[in-house]
Amino acid sequence: MEKTVQLYEGKAKKVFATDDPERVIVSYKDDATAFDGTKKGTIAGKGTVNNRMSNRLMQLLELQGVPTHYVEELNERETVVKKVSIVPLEVIIRNISAGSFAKRFGVEEGIVFPEPTIEFSYKNDALHDPLMNAYHARALSLATWEELEQIKSMAFRVNEVLKAYFLSLNVKLVDFKLEFGRLGDGKIVLADEISPDTCRFWDADTNEKLDKDRFRRDLGGVEDAYQEMLRRVFHDET
Ligand code: TMP
Repeated sequence: MEKTVQLYEGKAKKVFATDDPERVIVSYKDDATAFDGTKKGTIAGKGTVNNRMSNRLMQLLELQGVPTHYVEELNERETVVKKVSIVPLEVIIRNISAGSFAKRFGVEEGIVFPEPTIEFSYKNDALHDPLMNAYHARALSLATWEELEQIKSMAFRVNEVLKAYFLSLNVKLVDFKLEFGRLGDGKIVLADEISPDTCRFWDADTNEKLDKDRFRRDLGGVEDAYQEMLRRVFHDET
């Protein structure tokens, strides 16, 4: 499958049309941003890591009954995915306190929750992705109640599968962000990416951060952390 025109360029990916109206090609960049794009940089090799890792996780999730947009990896940075219209919600699941949760509620990072939590934010950079509940999403007609229920149960299912999977790689899945899309027939599928950009990964023994927080917080060793996560996810292939 070949790229035709570029449809969109986001902060971390470009999306191209193909000759199939139901398929697009995503191309992952090494560009990194944080804090609504106010912090900018490059993480060498990130596009490759995120593309390969996300594809592997989407395939694992498909096998576990979670429908995704994944179709076919073309090369290290490019993947064919089903064309969706993105539901403008960032769906965040948390197992352990960190990041904006720790800040908002004035708690330390690292508290293991009695059960996972979910939150939505409105995907809107100009408004800084404000936190939103399901009623707000309905008020703005972002999704139907049925879709919101589906999104919620799919997100918790993704967490069950990925939490166990990453633990088998000696990684704690602290929290992560998902996005969902609608296919042409309205079916909701998991879209976007699952990568060190969109998850917090802590080494299970040392709690060393193996994700984009190394970039956000200027901790150094950013590229090495991404490569280490890729190595763990593909350990059975090397
Ligand atoms: P937060 O603690 O900053 O709200 O982040 C929660 C999770 O969501 C974390 O794993 C990082 C991810 N995330 C994104 O993927 N995109 C974003 O724009 C933000 C703010 C967080």
